[in-house]
Amino acid sequence: MYDAKELVRKAVEAKSKAYPKYSNFYVGAALLTENGGIFQGANIENSSYGLTICAERTAIFHAVIEGERNFQAIAIAGDTNEFLPPCGACRQVLAEFCDKDLDVILTNTKGEIKTLKLGELLPYSFGEEFLKS
Ligand code: THU
Repeated sequence: MYDAKELVRKAVEAKSKAYPKYSNFYVGAALLTENGGIFQGANIENSSYGLTICAERTAIFHAVIEGERNFQAIAIAGDTNEFLPPCGACRQVLAEFCDKDLDVILTNTKGEIKTLKLGELLPYSFGEEFLKS
């Protein structure tokens, strides 16, 4: 098992590294590998708004270029009263590299934690198996 609170702390820390120049909406993520490594991500915006990248994707790309392919959990932190969920694009990118049983740890400004499975957040998903049929 892993320390969910520690992973959330890392996501909160990552939030301060964001570049949310246009929305001022800071998001941090911390992705836990199967071996206990932690990769952080934060949202990085662009004046051409559609080029913005979310915290979750930054974290997963950060890990992938370091050769990591197996993950246990991701924590996401923002400055929201409600639990902050990953957007649809990030769910799909997570599904590329993570099993349906990946823990997605949501947080809010009250410091509460809610853990969902990736499969719950992205049911009936598209994947490589369809490319082979
Ligand atoms: N954002 C994330 O980084 N992750 C989410 O889960 C939701 C949205 C970012 C994208 C953009 O920089 C800002 O939040 C507002 O949408």
